[in-house]
Amino acid sequence: MLAELLRYFTLRCPPWARLLGMAQEHVAITYRHRRTAQAWTPHLDASKAAILEGAERCRERRRVLVLGAGDCRDVPLAELAARFDEVILTDVVLGPELRRLAKRSVGKIRAEVWDATGVLAELARGWRTLTPAQAEALFAKGDPGLPPGGEPDLIVSANCISQLGVVPMDRFPGADEDGKLQDRCGAIAARRHIQWLGARPGVRVLLGDRARLDLAADGRELKRERMPGMDGLRKPDRAWQWQLAPIPEWSAEFHRVHEVGAWIDGPRRR
Ligand SMILES: C[S@@+](CC[C@H](N)C(=O)[O-])C[C@H]1O[C@@H](n2cnc3c(N)ncnc32)[C@H](O)[C@@H]1O
Repeated sequence: MLAELLRYFTLRCPPWARLLGMAQEHVAITYRHRRTAQAWTPHLDASKAAILEGAERCRERRRVLVLGAGDCRDVPLAELAARFDEVILTDVVLGPELRRLAKRSVGKIRAEVWDATGVLAELARGWRTLTPAQAEALFAKGDPGLPPGGEPDLIVSANCISQLGVVPMDRFPGADEDGKLQDRCGAIAARRHIQWLGARPGVRVLLGDRARLDLAADGRELKRERMPGMDGLRKPDRAWQWQLAPIPEWSAEFHRVHEVGAWIDGPRRR
């Protein structure tokens, strides 16, 4: 508990990321991974393999940009640094390890705070006054603008799409009487992200949750929910399961498992 609190204060992020619960979520993910590292390994390895498949497709390898880089558990950082002139890692919250790594790389790796929705600062400004409908409208017009550093040869959305409109709305003051608001914002933000990503001219790797499952200890499926906003996507190029919270991490009754997909798009090498 004390270690988690200390980490919270080592994070670099704008005040709005703390208000919206993004810094707290970063700490929660870091420590969940430490408790369940072995169960996460196949998911992290599959994510890294999909990213390297995208890298292989690139005609040029000047710049790679990662969105939702977090602690880069699912990013093959050394391999990307060896293949590309420049690696830009972005997130709304930057941990101390990532910042140290970027510093040691003397310019090859950059770590930057960048909001992939483009609306979180405005959401935080209107935290006490926005109605649920206005919050939804904000995500619907979300546009983060051009990627930091300019258009990359490879852009990776690293398992952040299911968080974009969901985590910041978790504690939204106007959400009390509207149990579906978080899912609606999640769907809108995910669809905007897919559109924005689709407009990038380079190779794109989208890693994202497609469904969340609760499985009994004997493997029986107790519950399945599709992730909001992922319905319009084609069949993924790769798919696997992420053992996100094995018993007893969240519950003594069920394992929480995510179905994850990797979509690799964009120009192919000639
Ligand atoms: C499930 S974690 C992905 C893990 C990360 N790729 C790693 O390996 O550590 C989702 C990440 O997305 C980030 N994220 C959430 N919303 C974001 C946004 N609007 N813009 C950029 N990053 C965001 C979170 O801060 C978190 O680090």
